[in-house]
Amino acid sequence: MKQPVEGFSKLTKNQKIEWLAQAYFSDPGKAVSIFKTYWNDDEKLQKLHDEFIENTITNYYLPLGVAPNFLINEQLYTIPMAIEESSVVAAAGKAAKFWLKRGGFHAEVVNTEKIGQVHFIYKGDKERLRQYFEHIKPALFSETETITENMKKRGGGIIAIELRDKTAALEDYYQLHCTFNTLDAMGANFINSCLEQFARTLQQGAQEYEAFETEEKKIRIVMSILSNYVPDCLVRASVSCKVEELNEDQMPPEEFADKFVRAVDIARIEPYRAVTHNKGIMNGIDAVVLATGNDFRAVEAGVHAYAARNGRYSSLTSASIENGIFRFEIEIPLALGTVGGLTSLHPLVQLSLEMLGNPSAPELMQIVAVAGLAQNFGAIRSLVTTGIQKGHMKMHLLNILNQLQATDEEKAFFVTYFKDKTATHRSVIEVFHKLRENA
Ligand code: MEV
Repeated sequence: MKQPVEGFSKLTKNQKIEWLAQAYFSDPGKAVSIFKTYWNDDEKLQKLHDEFIENTITNYYLPLGVAPNFLINEQLYTIPMAIEESSVVAAAGKAAKFWLKRGGFHAEVVNTEKIGQVHFIYKGDKERLRQYFEHIKPALFSETETITENMKKRGGGIIAIELRDKTAALEDYYQLHCTFNTLDAMGANFINSCLEQFARTLQQGAQEYEAFETEEKKIRIVMSILSNYVPDCLVRASVSCKVEELNEDQMPPEEFADKFVRAVDIARIEPYRAVTHNKGIMNGIDAVVLATGNDFRAVEAGVHAYAARNGRYSSLTSASIENGIFRFEIEIPLALGTVGGLTSLHPLVQLSLEMLGNPSAPELMQIVAVAGLAQNFGAIRSLVTTGIQKGHMKMHLLNILNQLQATDEEKAFFVTYFKDKTATHRSVIEVFHKLRENA
């Protein structure tokens, strides 16, 4: 029976590892040694990573790959991708090259507004609350001036504060629904600081508002928090070409285009397919979001909510053929930052951003949307032609061989061996054992 641990957060890193090793591992010495293998030799760099989170014991590596040849709005990019799944980076690079010869990707930011809400309870006359809101609104702006000053100087800040009556859905429930422009920052700290000040101003002002009756003065703040649903922080990316130019697969271009559009239409109307379809899109999006030091959980939450905005979970991309022109498009909400947070702390994030030409947040939105579209193109292209397993298992082959601790010579043999065969997990293991037996 395990015992709870007291004061764990106050232990040193070594003490934490020691406690863990003794409490959970059959071979504590081996566990400690593996944890420490992943420490960086550069103590300063290690300390930087230790301090990103709490109770750090080691680092968890993810490969950082790159996908070159992305032509986006006439500019060439090499896109950094942090991801553990094989095939994703290869598919991105392949899609980039395909569209490089066909005019590249086009992307545009539709809007960059972010949302935050103060959720509160008010028991009383609705009209008096509305009047109070108009009365207190200037103070909501003025009392957040110390927070908003710098952002305002650069052209951002609070765009609007609205009172929303939600009592039809939940008794006595109202909101301050607030819109922000956080420029190149993701803006979570900025928005949450503003909201918490709005809440204080709203609550204190109510106590002093003479037109309120005693109960009405007691506004209760439930919480103040930004929303990760950002349908007005929206970006679009697209590719298009003549149908006859879709001529790289062992299939007539017209058939390819038809099947492709049908595959996207299926994801539009069928949630089971839409989830997998969008998962493939997120392979590209999350990888760039992570590499550039952004919050992929926030992006995931917002994107999937957007995919369900019409009441049924649906595809984030659309495809069409009109007058002989094939067009493929993505539209997604993305709240990203290129300054502040991890972007100024993590050396690899800084390199990733430099690789992308130190983009503004709207530029990064475009690049990320393109990565999602490219990934979806690659997946659907495989699905409607060769099937996904052929390419997938080739990439997976190396993972299996690494698990089997194959040597470099053995890996080279396997790559040649499976060039014209489908590499399944079982077939790799069988051939591997035969190879070793005959060695
Ligand atoms: C695998 O990570 C992603 C795919 O399943 C996406 C798709 O089916 O469109 C290949």
